[in-house]
Amino acid sequence: MNNLAGELIEKLYIDRSLTEEEYAGLIELRDEESAALLREYAVKVRKSIYGNSVFTRGLIEISNICKNDCYYCGIRAGNKHCERYRLTPQEILMCADEGYRLGFRTFVMQGGEDSYFTDEVLCDIISEIKARHSDCAVTLSLGERSRESYQRLFDAGADRYLLRHETADKEHYEKLHPGKMSFDNRMRCLRDLKEIGYQVGCGFMVGSPYQTAKELAKDLKFIESFKPDMCGIGPFIPHKDTLFKDEPAGSLELTCYLLSIIRLIHPPVLLPATTALGTIHPKGRELGILVGANVVMPNLSPVSVRKKYELYDNKICTGEESAQCRGCLSARMQSIGYELVSDRGDIKK
Ligand code: SAM
Ligand code: FES
Repeated sequence: MNNLAGELIEKLYIDRSLTEEEYAGLIELRDEESAALLREYAVKVRKSIYGNSVFTRGLIEISNICKNDCYYCGIRAGNKHCERYRLTPQEILMCADEGYRLGFRTFVMQGGEDSYFTDEVLCDIISEIKARHSDCAVTLSLGERSRESYQRLFDAGADRYLLRHETADKEHYEKLHPGKMSFDNRMRCLRDLKEIGYQVGCGFMVGSPYQTAKELAKDLKFIESFKPDMCGIGPFIPHKDTLFKDEPAGSLELTCYLLSIIRLIHPPVLLPATTALGTIHPKGRELGILVGANVVMPNLSPVSVRKKYELYDNKICTGEESAQCRGCLSARMQSIGYELVSDRGDIKK
């Protein structure tokens, strides 16, 4: 291993902080040995807080109707080949009920920015889930909304909100999104969510078009200062009906390297081994856990809509029943010496 990489890793382990230039250097110096050392520290730190437990979130993909046109995303508004669907409140509640029976204690409602889901509609769904399953956490991942809207959803019982910042570099953000989407508004949303009292998740894609070590270093510095409760990072994977269809997918090794770094920056962070990681490698999610992640998100959506929530090509788990998906992940975690637990899985601060 390069001496400098070793020194940076020791510094990160002790201080939980590097400068932007140092993060970029650490990324550029990545090799098998530096990855192994980061992994060793990340697993040690994670085990000291969470032991061998892996938390699970039941993902309910409530709608693929979206007003936005993020250039990388398969469900963007401009994709005329995308067959649109929306779950009814009743269907969403049925997914949560089934998830509860299967042992889930956190439900994530994720979807495109679909105007059908007004505050009123969402508040009713959230409060009904909470009434039926008071020991569960409700997480929302429904994009950018006003502060007032976030406040109403929080007051109705939502506990957590996932909103990936996508990139902490404004110029890079503008290359990935059309002009009417704004970096400043995305950041405003994250700040509002935190101030309101949500457990907040940010995150980004690894290997997104135009991304270099410089942009990634900014992402890491942002995570260092924002201190999210959750952080979703997964490889970018091209989708055939997007502008970026011919771009290469993000790297498994780099994603794993960054997972370890993020664990060291913010030891208690809830860090998922994402579905995208499982899509680029058959053992991607296991590898994610083995480098410092501690969350997996099996799919609870009705099988009839799963293929339609296609953010990127060849997404896994689109033919599986919810019970199969949970069972599959439980067996995968056991095979590497970890245990999928039935727990809300709050951050341990
Ligand atoms: N609409 C909500 C939002 O914007 O946060 C939630 C749904 S959005 C599709 C969820 C995440 O999927 C995005 O934050 C993005 O990082 C990720 N994503 C979209 N297209 C992707 C792709 N081609 N490869 C990997 N991840 C992708
Ligand atoms: Fe969904 Fe394996 S996690 S089938």
